[in-house]
Amino acid sequence: MSKPIILALDFPTTKDVEAFLKPFSNESLYVKVGMELYYQTGPALIDLLKRDGHKVFLDLKLHDIPNTVKRAMKGLASLEVDLVNVHAAGGCAMMEAAVEGLESGTAAGKKRPDCIAVTQLTSTSQEIMQQEILIHHEMKEVVKRYAKFARQSGLEGVVCSALEVPAIKEYCGQDTMTVTPGIRIAGDLAGDQKRVTTPAKARKLGSDAIVVGRSITSAKDPVQAYQQVQQEWSV
Ligand code: C5P
Repeated sequence: MSKPIILALDFPTTKDVEAFLKPFSNESLYVKVGMELYYQTGPALIDLLKRDGHKVFLDLKLHDIPNTVKRAMKGLASLEVDLVNVHAAGGCAMMEAAVEGLESGTAAGKKRPDCIAVTQLTSTSQEIMQQEILIHHEMKEVVKRYAKFARQSGLEGVVCSALEVPAIKEYCGQDTMTVTPGIRIAGDLAGDQKRVTTPAKARKLGSDAIVVGRSITSAKDPVQAYQQVQQEWSV
């Protein structure tokens, strides 16, 4: 699984997840569990997904004081998920604390979960960032600088829009992991997302992994939509 499609399980209950995954039969997937699902189902669902052979990105976007983030990450590492994240806006001390927590919570002989930082949400536009978050720089500049802070703090990479991948890789090194949501199959609605691309374009721009939610979860035939994304992503 070198360049995965991460399937966003944005559902409220374990039952919904099971119903959604059923038609994928026994395929091993890379899935993302976000706040909506995790706050309802907790570690039990993670256990279930791991037991079924899926890789798990636990997308809880931690953003708190360093000590709290460190202790929370220690607990998340013990769930043996593959990928977790924080908001880069929490600062370098917080990101360093996240890595320390993950290291201390990883069992001997196991790999610590990779950790990436959200730079700016893909639902945030340049206007929102300037007028509501009061950051008066170009989006690309902010994203690049946040990515550099994340790498300097020991994180593997960032969550960003695919549109920002080339600039981030150039500024922070080609080995910077870029995980990119805001993906739509051509013709699908963007919804609340602002900085969107297709799987094929994300591939061309050099994304290491795409996160796809509604283009698959809301499709009439999710398996067929997944296969379409797979086809575009692997061209
Ligand atoms: O349905 P859609 O494909 O827009 O879902 C995108 C998923 O990626 C959602 O679960 C969302 O929480 C997540 N995400 C995002 N932007 C980020 C980080 C995560 O859209 N910066």
